Amino acid sequence: METLRGIVLVVHLIGFAVLFGAWAVEALGARRITRIMSWGLLVAGVAGLALAAPWGTDHDLNYTKIAVKLIVLLVIGALLGVGSARQKRSQALPAAIFWVIGAATVANVAIAVLWR
Ligand code: HEM
Repeated sequence: METLRGIVLVVHLIGFAVLFGAWAVEALGARRITRIMSWGLLVAGVAGLALAAPWGTDHDLNYTKIAVKLIVLLVIGALLGVGSARQKRSQALPAAIFWVIGAATVANVAIAVLWR
């Protein structure tokens, strides 16, 4: 069970890496939202929900922290949705939407690692 939980955590981190990696590539390039960002978010979110259940671990889960991470994830999802719709309609993505997506992703890693 512990190994399986470890594997789900790896999947969770791969989802984060895909989201942040895709965003970083765009930050140095066209600063547009790409589909791969949404795939990364989906993978991180599904694996995160699986990890939010108390299995394969002997330490208590911090549900306040998990709830905050879920809210931040929903904000990122909403910005990806609104941003890609605006991008399709007008070919222009408001810079604030792009930068908040990256900042919120970094905020979620900081919450995950620094909040004990
Ligand atoms: C972009 C979104 C997210 C990022 C960047 C992220 C990042 C991380 C990182 C870096 C860890 C490993 C840190 C550690 O175990 O100390 C982690 C663990 C975890 N995450 Fe996330 N996460 C995200 C979304 C979520 C969501 C939406 C949930 C649940 C609803 C969630 C639930 C968890 C849980 C339960 C753990 C394991 C904690 C434990 O076993 O003590 N995460 N996350």
